[in-house]
Amino acid sequence: MEYTDKVMDHFQNPRNMGKIDNPSAVGEVGNATCGDIMRIYLDIEEDVIKDVKFQTYGCGAAIATTSIMTELVKGKKLEDALKVTNANVAEELGGLPPVKMHCSNLAADALQAAIEDYKNKNQE
Ligand code: FES
Repeated sequence: MEYTDKVMDHFQNPRNMGKIDNPSAVGEVGNATCGDIMRIYLDIEEDVIKDVKFQTYGCGAAIATTSIMTELVKGKKLEDALKVTNANVAEELGGLPPVKMHCSNLAADALQAAIEDYKNKNQE
């Protein structure tokens, strides 16, 4: 299977790549298969994701899936963002070659880690 145009577009022009200064939360996960790292920054106001950015040492597939994921969750409430799964992200991209599925998992896993971080920081 080849990469779809949408994957190539997000790989070549990733959305929301970078870093947020003073983020509300940060999530970082490593990919056990390849050793790459993904970091997600969230700016959260009243349980809504106002801004999201990512940094990664991952490959093109990881960049493309995370770029798509950031577009999916921006403006969403945390509870709805948590429902964005790895499968949704890959589907949104029009599929990924099976050998690259582990790369796409970084996006939703890092997002969930960031939301977890936010919850831990904001416990009463
Ligand atoms: Fe590491 Fe794709 S090969 S994230």
